[in-house]
Amino acid sequence: MKITPEQEKSIITKILTKLNVPTEHAEIVADVTLDADLKGFSSHGIGRFPQYIKGLKSGTIKTKGDIEIENETVSTALINGNHLFGHYVSYKSMQLAMEKARETGIGMVGIHDSNHFGVAGYYSDMALMEDLVGLVIANTEPAVAPIGGKIPILGTNPIAIGIPSNKNYVSVDMATSASARGKLMEAVRRGEKIPENVALDCEGNPTIDPQEALKGSILPFGAHKGYALAFMIEILAGPLVKAAFGTGVTGTANPEEMCTKGDLMIAIDPSKLSDLNIFKDQVDEFIDQVKSTDNIFIPGDMEVMNVNNHQLNGIDIDDKLYQQFIDISHELKMDLEDLFKE
Ligand SMILES: NC(=O)c1ccc[n+]([C@@H]2O[C@H](COP(=O)([O-])OP(=O)(O)OC[C@H]3O[C@@H](n4cnc5c(N)ncnc54)[C@H](O)[C@@H]3O)[C@@H](O)[C@H]2O)c1
Repeated sequence: MKITPEQEKSIITKILTKLNVPTEHAEIVADVTLDADLKGFSSHGIGRFPQYIKGLKSGTIKTKGDIEIENETVSTALINGNHLFGHYVSYKSMQLAMEKARETGIGMVGIHDSNHFGVAGYYSDMALMEDLVGLVIANTEPAVAPIGGKIPILGTNPIAIGIPSNKNYVSVDMATSASARGKLMEAVRRGEKIPENVALDCEGNPTIDPQEALKGSILPFGAHKGYALAFMIEILAGPLVKAAFGTGVTGTANPEEMCTKGDLMIAIDPSKLSDLNIFKDQVDEFIDQVKSTDNIFIPGDMEVMNVNNHQLNGIDIDDKLYQQFIDISHELKMDLEDLFKE
């Protein structure tokens, strides 16, 4: 089955408001989730949504209260997310980082006690769309073993960087693991295998079975370099922002545990270092150099192609996911079937 972007937003917002999530929070969750699906990151799109319902039901995602600024300078802030929706906390935090960047050239906002935020690139896009450079990192509950080990200690620790330009969408948004954990969870739901060279079972042997991989570990991307980058993110999005690190991180994959991970949102105003238009032109000039032959993509091209495709052809909902939504709607005494079919 396929649904339109409007249907996806409406389904998510209706369910969340029924569960007493404030409208502003619900709309941000819906927007970030739709962004993931449009860009082709279905592992973090509507397929992830049933996890959030579990989080709301078990009280790990709160619907009351607001974020608190615990520490603040002209260019930095530390946010306590008070276990609200991670999407809302991250949105507000990036807004604050952007305000600071416009004033001082750079804004850096750390977050602790938040929740899973969906796709990192949504928040770097917020900066990019306002002519700022955006950089987002986060740690997650353990999934990746250090090189040479078989026990997961590091998270899948995503990184997203968005850069403004005059003609192109320039964005990298990726896990530092060979695959996002969400892709393994999605493969389990769909009954699919995962590619080779992505994960190990709990004995440390290569596996293409996503269930075995979830019990074992995911490999870092790019061998020792991915491990080294994930290692650094674990600290910059952990102890630096008063969040947990390594085996102490919980609640990003298991929604029934309180989330202890951290995030770091950075915005940079290029106009404080250079002429903004010259900078943006040079970004495009560099892309022209890179794309000097056919079939070369830049970071961000895949997302643009996917957005065009999904806007035109709709977003896939597999049978198991549809059934999960039907179960949720019955439990909440809502009639969502029509909303899926409209
Ligand atoms: N919330 C969390 O805790 C969490 C954790 C991990 C990952 N994630 C999210 O999962 C999503 C998927 O991550 P992933 O690692 O599976 O992504 P991926 O492996 O699909 O990589 C995506 C990135 O690679 C770029 N890319 C792809 N092909 C390219 C090419 N040929 N040339 C140049 N660039 C190319 C894309 O433009 C994109 O920026 C991301 O949105 C990430 O934020 C979230």
